[in-house]
Amino acid sequence: MSEAFSDNSSVFRRSGPAAGMPIALERVSKRFGTRVVLNEITLNIAAGETIALIGPSGGGKSTLLRCINGLTTFDSGTITVGPYVLRAVASRREQRQALLKLRGEFGMIFQDFQLFPHLTVMGNVVEAPMQVLRLSRAEAERHASQLLHHVGLADRADAYPRQLSGGQKQRVAIARALAMKPAGLLCDEITSALDPQLKHEVLDVVEDLKKEGLTLLLVTHEIGFARRAADRVLVLADGKIVEEGPPQQVIDHPQAERTQQFLKQVMA
Ligand SMILES: Nc1ncnc2c1ncn2[C@@H]1O[C@H](COP(=O)(O)OP(=O)(O)O)[C@@H](O)[C@H]1O
Ligand SMILES: [Mg+2]
Repeated sequence: MSEAFSDNSSVFRRSGPAAGMPIALERVSKRFGTRVVLNEITLNIAAGETIALIGPSGGGKSTLLRCINGLTTFDSGTITVGPYVLRAVASRREQRQALLKLRGEFGMIFQDFQLFPHLTVMGNVVEAPMQVLRLSRAEAERHASQLLHHVGLADRADAYPRQLSGGQKQRVAIARALAMKPAGLLCDEITSALDPQLKHEVLDVVEDLKKEGLTLLLVTHEIGFARRAADRVLVLADGKIVEEGPPQQVIDHPQAERTQQFLKQVMA
């Protein structure tokens, strides 16, 4: 049995005191062609912190998340996630081992769920623990059942994604990410495709994860949720963090013009 799973103290996370993991970006830049999408971003997220990342469309939010778990390369700077260091200069090959481990520690969840359509709910959740962590099917299914119970889908284990609502699909995606017992999650507008009433069932699950001590970096347009759940709000616009601080400060008393414009739009 994998060491990470030897302690049943939490369904979500690994044993030991270091539940979440810190994330640090040091002057990270990323260009697409001549367009600078991330411009020398430096930021620090503490282990267990919940960050809401907001800002206008095209501002680089998705790119930032993708850099952090190695789905895309960057041009300069350093990204450190717990013990894993990603450098712009290193080749993908050199970083392959670190990337695989890193993705196990920090799951990413997307707006469009990205479930495996040919697998059942249970199949989706046990896939990575069996393939990557080499858990037995019985062990992976036992953990998956606990997670599905937690996200309110205990009775849908045999369903296929096409048979589920958007809110249910997104909760499966969360359970699937949690099946790796991650130190944190990167969530990219995970409620944007959902009806208002379905958003809540997903956001409630996310708030539970915060209580469990996971490090959460959430791109969201749910300003009410950000105000309630985030420890800090970061505003990314034109490749820069233009403002950051506690939600009461950034959302209720924004200083930067870009923040004011953005909030006016989303709250209209
Ligand atoms: N793979 C890509 N190739 C070229 N340009 C891209 C690619 N991905 C994103 N971009 C561009 O980078 C900018 C930032 O995109 P993105 O990170 O998706 O912003 P956000 O998530 O804040 O809306 C946009 O101008 C977008 O068109
Ligand atoms: Mg995006």
